[in-house]
Amino acid sequence: MSMKIAVVIGTRPEIIKMAPLIDEIEKRGINYILIHTGQHYDHEMSDQFFIDLELKKPDYNIGVGSGSHGEQTANMIKGIEDILLDEKPDLVLVQGDTNAVLSGAIVSSKLHIPVGHVEAGLRSYDKSMPEEINREVADICSKLYFVPTEESALNLLFAGMDPEDIFITGNTVVDACIRNLKIAEKKSNNTSTPNFQGEIMTLTMHRAENVDNQERLQNIVDALIELDEITIVFPIHPRTVKTLEKFDLLKKLENTEHIKLIKPVGYLDFLLLLSRSKLVMTDSGGLQEEAITLDIPCMTLRYNTERPETVEAGGNILLGSEKKKIIENVRKILNNTERYNEMKEAINPYGAGDSSKKILDAILSLYEDGKLKISVPENIMKNRTRKLIKINDDIKLGEFERINSNIKVNIVFDNGNPLYPDNELNLKDKLILIKEFI
Ligand code: UD1
Ligand code: UDP
Repeated sequence: MSMKIAVVIGTRPEIIKMAPLIDEIEKRGINYILIHTGQHYDHEMSDQFFIDLELKKPDYNIGVGSGSHGEQTANMIKGIEDILLDEKPDLVLVQGDTNAVLSGAIVSSKLHIPVGHVEAGLRSYDKSMPEEINREVADICSKLYFVPTEESALNLLFAGMDPEDIFITGNTVVDACIRNLKIAEKKSNNTSTPNFQGEIMTLTMHRAENVDNQERLQNIVDALIELDEITIVFPIHPRTVKTLEKFDLLKKLENTEHIKLIKPVGYLDFLLLLSRSKLVMTDSGGLQEEAITLDIPCMTLRYNTERPETVEAGGNILLGSEKKKIIENVRKILNNTERYNEMKEAINPYGAGDSSKKILDAILSLYEDGKLKISVPENIMKNRTRKLIKINDDIKLGEFERINSNIKVNIVFDNGNPLYPDNELNLKDKLILIKEFI
C-alpha cells in the first residue's frame, strides 16, 4: 500500500513554504491531501499564492476565518480531526508556528498519526508571543522534526527530543525564493507593483506585539516618517491596516510622500520588489530568512528573534521599536558602504535550496523502513539513564554508537559548546551526554 500524506496550511507564509514540499511530493508521485484551515482568506493573503505557486486547490478548506485564539484553534482542531478520521493519512505535515501548526499537531498526535513539523526547533524564548507557544506545543506533539539549522536542532535536544527524530534540512523558504525569483524575473513586465524610483526599503509589519500596541506602533510610524532619504514601500498586512486605522495613524502614513502604501502583493511581485530593494525592514519571520537569502540587509523591528542565525551571520539587526534606534541604525547602514556590504555578504544559514528534497528523502526512507508509526516504546523510562561522560579515544560518533549498542549520544560538548551529534563527529576530548539502555 502506498503512503498518504496530509499537508496542513492556514496562512500566507505556510502556503509559500509548503509549496516546494508539495512540488516534491507530486514529483515523487506520492498520494497527498491539502487541508487549508482558512485562517487567511482574503484573495491577496491566500488565493493569489495558489496562482503564483501553481498549487492545486485545497482538497478541504475548513474556513475558520478570523477570531480569538481559542475560537480559531478550537474550530481548526475540530475541522482537522473530522478530515483525518475520514482520510486516515500515514503522516501529517505542518509548517512553522501558526495556529494551524498547533491544531494540526495536537489533533494528529492524539489520533496516533505521526506529525512532521517543518521548520521545527525555532525558539525566541519569549512566551508572550503566541507563535512561541505554538512552536513548543507542536514540537511536543511531533514525531519528525525538519529543522533549518544546527542551532534549531540543539534547541530540540535541550528540550529532550531524540537526535534520531531530528533532520537538519535547511529551510524550504530558500527553495521557494530561488525557484520563484527566476519565474518572477521572466514575468517582470507583468508586475502589478508600481516601479518605484530611487532607493527602496521594503517594509512589512504584522506582529501582534508591534501592531496591537499603540505606543510601539506610534514610535515605528514616527521613525518611518522621519526616514525621508529612502522610498519606503509598505505592502500592508490586513491586521496592520486595522490597528493603524484604530490608532489614527493610517492617514499620517498616507500623507507622507516617501512612504508608498500598497495592498499585500503576490509572491512573484513581492520577490521582484525585494530584489529591487536596498534594505528590508520587518517583523516577519519569513522575511528575515528571505532577506539573507537574497543578500539584502535586514532591520528587524523586534527585541528578540527565533532566527538568531541571521543576526549571528551579520545580515540582520534587531532594532526593537524605539524611534531613535530605528532611525540611527538605518542611517548608519545607508551611509556606510563598508558596513552595508558586510551585511549584504552575510552567509545564508538556511541551506542551498534543496530542503524539500531532503525532507522527502527522510520521509520516504522512514516509511520504507516501517518507522513512520506511533507505537509503545520498547525501552521505557526506568530502563533509561542519562550520563555525561568524557571520551579520550580517537573515535567517530557513528562508530562509538555501533560498538556501544546500548548507548545513544544526545549532545556533544566541545569545550563547553554544545554540538549536534553528527555521526562523523570525532569524539576525542569531548564530553557527551548519553542515554543508556540497560
Ligand atoms: C498569523 C499568524 C502569525 C503569522 C501571520 C502571517 C497565528 C497566531 N498568527 O497572524 O504567526 O506570522 O499569520 O501573516 O497563527 N485578516 C484579514 N484577512 C485575512 C486574514 C486576516 O482581514 O485574510 C485580519 C483580521 O482582521 C484578523 C487579523 O487580520 O483579525 C489577524 O489575522 P490572524 O489570522 O488572527 O493573525 P495574523 O496576524 O494574520
Ligand atoms: N509576502 C508576500 N507579499 C507581501 C508580504 C509578504 O508574498 O505583501 C511573503 C514574504 O515573501 C514571505 C511571507 O510572505 O515569504 C512572510 O509572511 P508573513 O510576514 O505574513 O508571515 P511570517 O513569516 O512572519 O510568519
